[in-house]
Amino acid sequence: MKKDLIFLGIETSCDETAAALVKKSKNGKVKILSNIVSSQEIVHKKFGGVVPELAARAHSEKIDLIIKKAITKSKVKMDQIDGVACTAGPGLLVCLMVGMTAGKTIASALKKPFFGTNHLEGHALTMGLIKPMKFPYLLLLISGGHSQFLSVEGVGKYKRLGTTIDDALGEAFDKTAKILGIEFPGGPKIETFAKFGNENSFDLPKPILHKSGCNMSYAGLKTAVLHASKNIKSKQDKYDLAASFQKTINQILKVKCAKAIEMFLEKHKKVKNKNFVIAGGVASNQSIRKTIKQVSSTLKFNTHFPPLNLCTDNAAMIAWAGLQNYEAGKKPNLKIISQPRWPLDQKAPFMKGAGLIL
Ligand code: KG4
Ligand code: ZN
Repeated sequence: MKKDLIFLGIETSCDETAAALVKKSKNGKVKILSNIVSSQEIVHKKFGGVVPELAARAHSEKIDLIIKKAITKSKVKMDQIDGVACTAGPGLLVCLMVGMTAGKTIASALKKPFFGTNHLEGHALTMGLIKPMKFPYLLLLISGGHSQFLSVEGVGKYKRLGTTIDDALGEAFDKTAKILGIEFPGGPKIETFAKFGNENSFDLPKPILHKSGCNMSYAGLKTAVLHASKNIKSKQDKYDLAASFQKTINQILKVKCAKAIEMFLEKHKKVKNKNFVIAGGVASNQSIRKTIKQVSSTLKFNTHFPPLNLCTDNAAMIAWAGLQNYEAGKKPNLKIISQPRWPLDQKAPFMKGAGLIL
C-alpha cells in the first residue's frame, strides 16, 4: 500500500549550505515542508569567486544548524523521515564531503535509506515540486557550472542534446560582472545594469551560432567584453556594455533553443505534450525568460520556469530527486563517495574545445 513519503535533502556542492524537507503524500501531492538556504556571499566577496577551502569551512560551521533549522521548521519528527538525499556531485570535492558526511551520519543513525544524489538531476526534476511533469520534456539547464540541453525521459534517464564547449552561461555572466567591477556574485546584477543601458551600443560575437547543433560557446563573448571594457569611461558605458552582453546572450539562446526544440522533436516524433523546462540559477533572468517564452510559443512548446528560489541552488530539489529515485526503485547507496564530475548523460562525449565538434 502506498504511504506518505518524507525526504530530508542536503546540498553543499558549492557556496550554498542548504537543507530541506519534502513530502509526497500518498495521493501524489508534493509539498516543500521547509527549504533553508544559507549563502556564503560574504565569505567569497573579497576574492571575486568561490574559494573551495573557505567554502568547505563555512559549510562545516553551518551544516548542523541548517539541518536542524530545516527539521524544526518542517515540524517533522526525526522518526517520520523516510530517507536522506544528499548532493554527491558534481561540485567542489571538499564542499561535497561536508554534506555527505552529515547526510550519511543522519541516515545511518535513523536506519533510513541514503541517496547520494546528482545535483544536476536536482535541477532537472525541480519543476515537479511545483506541478506534475510528464516525461519526456526538453530541459535547458543554465547555471554557474553547466549549460546544456537535455531530453529528460524519466528519473535517471537523460540524453544530452547539446552543451557548452567552453564556459557555462552563469560563468559568462559572473565574469562579465567582474570585468565591469561588480562585486561577486555579479551575475544577477548584470540584469539590473542592463535595464539602464542601450543594448545596441556594443557589437559582440556569437560563436558557433549556426554551427554544431545546439552546442554553445561563451568564452569568446567574455573575451570580447574584456576588450570592449578597455574603452569604458562612465557608469553609463558599463550599463551599455551589460545591456549589449545580455542582448547577445538572448540572440544566442533564441537560435540554440529553436535548434534544441527541433532536435527534441526529431527524437520524440509522437510526443503530445510539448514541454520545455528551463532550470538553474541563470533561469532567474527575466529577459532570458522572455526570449525563451517567445521562441517556444512560436514552435508550440509550453515553457516552465521554477520560482526564483528553486532556480538557484537549494536542497528541496535534492530531497525531491532522492525521493523520486527511491520511488523508482533505485537502491540506496550509503557507500557512494563524492564525485566532482558526474554528467547526467554518462554516454555523451566530453565536449571541451571547439576543435572537437566543428
Ligand atoms: O544554479 P546555481 O545557483 O548554481 C550552480 O549550480 O552553478 O547558479 C548560479 C549561477 C551564477 O553564475 C549566477 O551568476 C547566475 O546563476 N545567476 C544569474 C541570475 N541569477 C543567478 N545570471 C543571470 N541573471 C540572473 N538574474
Ligand atoms: Zn546548481
